[in-house]
Amino acid sequence: MTPIYKVLINNNTIIKPIWVMRQAGRYLPEFREIRSKNPDFIKLCLNEKLSAEITLQPLKRFDLDAAIIFSDILMLPYGLNQKVEFKKGIGPILGDLDLDSILKLNENNFVEKLSPIYKLVNLINNSELTKNKNTIGFVGAPWTLLVYMINQKSPKCGLKNDFFKDKNLTSKILNIIEKFLKVHIKHQVKNGAQIIQIFDSWAGLLNDKDLPNYVYEPTIKLVEYTKTLNIPTICFPKGIKKYKDYCETVKPDAICIDYDVDPKEILKNIKIPVQGGMDPKILLTDQENLKKEAKRYLEIFKDHPYIFNLGHGILPDTDPEMMDYLVKTVKDF
Ligand code: CP3
Repeated sequence: MTPIYKVLINNNTIIKPIWVMRQAGRYLPEFREIRSKNPDFIKLCLNEKLSAEITLQPLKRFDLDAAIIFSDILMLPYGLNQKVEFKKGIGPILGDLDLDSILKLNENNFVEKLSPIYKLVNLINNSELTKNKNTIGFVGAPWTLLVYMINQKSPKCGLKNDFFKDKNLTSKILNIIEKFLKVHIKHQVKNGAQIIQIFDSWAGLLNDKDLPNYVYEPTIKLVEYTKTLNIPTICFPKGIKKYKDYCETVKPDAICIDYDVDPKEILKNIKIPVQGGMDPKILLTDQENLKKEAKRYLEIFKDHPYIFNLGHGILPDTDPEMMDYLVKTVKDF
């Protein structure tokens, strides 16, 4: 059994496996090299050979316990025929949403459009570099995808004023998202994804009273669906305060925490395996500080099933040497 499965399935508290969100990304010069020759990010995600190479880049350098497929949560709206572009320095920009055309879309068109992603999962799963390691597939949570699809850009500066105006529209879109997320999960699993992480990057935008409707209920359906495929889920509801409530309601196999959460509170309140937490900015400081912070998390979760990770994606300015030092610190613990 792989180290991460030992934690997720057997609740092993002795080993502390590690993988890092955005481990394949801009902090690696070999990624930037490929990226500079491939200005269209969506096309890059749909090139299974290059995506596989990118996915495996960090595994060639560091002793990580998982490969997360190089893709994006916004491949879902792309698969639903909503235009998605990534603008340098701005982030993703989405086209207008055409509900009628989305309602007409069938599963086969969607799967056909995203088929390179499923081929990618297969390539990763069959690579020598992922032996005794897990292949992690992922999706955006329904709420976070709804945010991008309606807001049409990152909600960094807040949601559109009329975001919640048409409740009928939001509920219809949520249903469609949920339906196609299940398809997306099914095909990743069929091709070898052994874990599904659900990224709810914008869960923190909601008031507590709106969490059940927009976050809990739609996510429960995905977690339950993935359970029927015998695959564990890790949920990352970034920015929420009520992690205990979330875990007891959504019941994922593990919870990924962000850097604003007090890990000691989590340890006290959460029974299921925990992942992540350390602030990615720590990797921009020095080795001594990095070791101290990494050990703080490892000490706190010493007797709890814990997968080491950061509290959000590794930052593009990170020195790969610091990542190397982090992985070694965790492995030596
Ligand atoms: O973690 C990994 O290594 C796997 C790859 C991965 C990417 N995106 C590649 C990517 C994963 C898991 C994601 C998830 C994702 N994508 C999320 C959830 C996690 C989070 O960060 O909160 C979100 C919100 C997105 C949407 C998205 N994609 C944004 C907002 C951006 C632009 C901001 C940014 O970080 O550049 C992207 C682009 C993106 N996705 C890049 C990568 C490596 C950068 C592409 C580039 O410009 O080179």
